[in-house]
Amino acid sequence: MEQYIIKGGHALKGEVVIGGAKNAALGILAAAIMSNETVTIENLPNVRDINVLLQAIEAIGATVDRVSDNVVKINGSTIGSLNIDYEFIRKIRASYYLLGALLGKYKSAQVALPGGCAIGSRPIDQHIKGFEALGAVVTIDHGTISAQADELAGNHIYLDVVSVGATINIMLAASMAEGKTILENAAKEPHIVDVANFLNSMGANIKGAGTDVIRIKGVKELKSTTYSIIPDQIEAGTFMVAAAATKGDVLIKNVIPKHLEAISAKLVEIGAEVIEYDDAVRVKADKRLGHTNIKTLPYPGFPTDMQPQMAALLALSNGSSMVIESIFENRFKYVDELARMGASIKVEGNIAIVNGVEKFSGAMVSAPDLRAGAALVVAGCVADGITVVDSIHYIQRGYEAFEEKLRGIGADIERVDAEDYKAMQKFRLKVV
Ligand code: UD1
Repeated sequence: MEQYIIKGGHALKGEVVIGGAKNAALGILAAAIMSNETVTIENLPNVRDINVLLQAIEAIGATVDRVSDNVVKINGSTIGSLNIDYEFIRKIRASYYLLGALLGKYKSAQVALPGGCAIGSRPIDQHIKGFEALGAVVTIDHGTISAQADELAGNHIYLDVVSVGATINIMLAASMAEGKTILENAAKEPHIVDVANFLNSMGANIKGAGTDVIRIKGVKELKSTTYSIIPDQIEAGTFMVAAAATKGDVLIKNVIPKHLEAISAKLVEIGAEVIEYDDAVRVKADKRLGHTNIKTLPYPGFPTDMQPQMAALLALSNGSSMVIESIFENRFKYVDELARMGASIKVEGNIAIVNGVEKFSGAMVSAPDLRAGAALVVAGCVADGITVVDSIHYIQRGYEAFEEKLRGIGADIERVDAEDYKAMQKFRLKVV
């Protein structure tokens, strides 16, 4: 098991370059197997979730050629199995995108049913509703979900809940269905637009992605393409918050500032300076920031994936803030960990009341999930003394070279093996 060991108290300063969007990449990799020609995907984030999905894709027989850390070529013509094993689903829920992709291409797919997960119960009823509307017979048996159809036919589908996963999964299947699908109350996240753009670059006919009505005309086949994934909104947001929390000054490069508006607006509201460039944002803070309220909402609202990081910042700000989590019911697991560092946060149902404290003190904490883990690292960068963040495999699911990027802007952070006491001691001696 690895840990991050952090000596806090340095203002983060300098430049950091953001990688490709993990959540876009997951949809795009699944979509790539729908072509029988070679598809080249660039700006792929080299993170654990992506590597697991690539293994799942290889396991069904597709050809995966990892040209470099951030480029992969996929050829779906060699697929021999339509069955995604629980081993992959267990590690990464988004392997269920292969259900939509295989159903669209082969009219048949079996995928182990994703279980619950750390941040909430996460049902997939809307995915199933969509597949059924396209004409598939969906059954659940022995923990596996099967979708079969003689023919998939476009339909009018209304999502009862705005769901990123269901929007992408239905878009995948409908891309190769017969005729026209209209998907209403669709999610509008930037990665949905990116998956749609990718599918269109393979010859699909999808219009309206990024609005709440997506129109898809099915095509018979998808072709070769070369495509570069958009920058990761949440990785960028995490560095924005880290810059503000440490009273730093960081230029965050390779971003789409429009995707960051909800985060920028909140940072400005509490007194940070956010300067937008064409493909970069600079975040500066030179004083203790103020309080605000946040409610997580589907895009363009404040992203649930930024809630823990922002709450960590508010926990250090002046005054009381209210954080309302309206997407996932169990996303406050970091609160007890932050309390160990001195934070004062009270949770009532889906609302956290955050009473800002002047400082955090370094402590041993454990990452409960991906974004909560990132929040603890940000907290560690601010805290007095040494913070050890355990269970960082969660963080590695979604942040590429996190510690290297943080070191590049002045953080004192090392990734060490939890059993390697010498490495820890070396770090402690280096930083005291
Ligand atoms: C995706 C993101 C995740 C992000 C979330 C919300 C990926 C791989 N993951 O997750 O990082 O936190 O969007 O922005 O892109 N729901 C249902 N029935 C369904 C599907 C969803 O009730 O069939 C509910 C969920 O329980 C949740 C809400 O809808 O309350 C939104 O979930 P959804 O947008 O589907 O999240 P994911 O796609 O799982």
